[in-house]
Amino acid sequence: MSRTYAVVSNKGGAGKTTLATLLAGEYALGGQRVLMIDADSRQNLAGWWKLCHRKGNVPEKIEVTIAATQRAIEDVLKKFDDAFDMMVIDAPGVDSVLQTTIIRSSDLVLSPVQPGIKEIEAAGQTIAEVNEINDQLGLSILHMNVRTRITLPGRNLEAYRYIRPFVAGLLDANYQTMLLDTELYERNIYREIQNGLGTLQMQELTDSVRKARIEVKALVDEIEVRRLSGAAEVAA
Ligand SMILES: Nc1ncnc2c1ncn2[C@@H]1O[C@H](COP(=O)(O)OP(=O)(O)OP(=O)(O)O)[C@@H](O)[C@H]1O
Ligand SMILES: [Mg+2]
Repeated sequence: MSRTYAVVSNKGGAGKTTLATLLAGEYALGGQRVLMIDADSRQNLAGWWKLCHRKGNVPEKIEVTIAATQRAIEDVLKKFDDAFDMMVIDAPGVDSVLQTTIIRSSDLVLSPVQPGIKEIEAAGQTIAEVNEINDQLGLSILHMNVRTRITLPGRNLEAYRYIRPFVAGLLDANYQTMLLDTELYERNIYREIQNGLGTLQMQELTDSVRKARIEVKALVDEIEVRRLSGAAEVAA
C-alpha cells in the first residue's frame, strides 16, 4: 500500500507546487516510486512535467498525472496504489470541495507557510480542516507546517516571528499539527527547476544546489521522524 502526502494551502502562491516537487525528488532519490498528482486545474505541475519531457530532463522513479476532480483523485489513488510507494498530491490554491477530498485521502498533509499573514491564516484553515475531518471520520491524518521562502532579513519580520506562537496557540487548543524546524529558504534554484529542469536532485552540484539539497534532505528526514512519532502519539 502506498502512502499519500498532500500539499495544501488555500493561499495562491504559497509554495505548494514547489514543495511537492522538492519532496517527490528527494523520496525518489531514496528509491521510492512516487506518483505526483496534479489536482490543480491550472496544471502548474503537469506543465512542469511536460517541459521536463520536452527538455529531456525526465526524473527517474517519478510519474505525474492530472486528477482535478473528486472522482478522478479517488480513482487514481485506487488504481495506482500498488504501482507506487508514495503519492504526492499538489492541491489547488483555492478553497474548494476538492480540498476535503484531498485531505481525506491523505496520510499526511503539509502546508507551506511563508512569512505573511495570509499564508499563516491559510495554514490555520488547513489545520482546522484536517482536524475536523479526523474528528468526523475517526481518522488520524497528520498535519505539518513547513516554513518556506525564508530569508535572513525576513526572519526579523513580525509575520515570521508570529508563525511559532500561532501554531502553539492551536496546539494549546488541542489541534493536532506540527511546526517543522527545517525551513526552506528563498532560493533561485527552487524557481528555476520549474522551467523543466527536472528535480532539484538532478541538478549539477554547484554550491547553491548543494545548500538546497542539504535543506531538502533535512526536511524529508524531519518529516519522516515526526511522522512516525506523530502516528505513535495519535495511536496512544
Ligand atoms: N522556497 C522558495 N524559494 C524561491 N521561490 C519559491 C520558493 N517557494 C516558492 N517559490 C516561487 O513562488 C512562486 C509560487 O510558488 P508555487 O507555484 O510553488 O506556489 P503554489 O502554492 O503552488 O501556487 P498556486 O496556489 O498558484 O498553485 C513560484 O514562482 C515559485 O517558484
Ligand atoms: Mg501550485
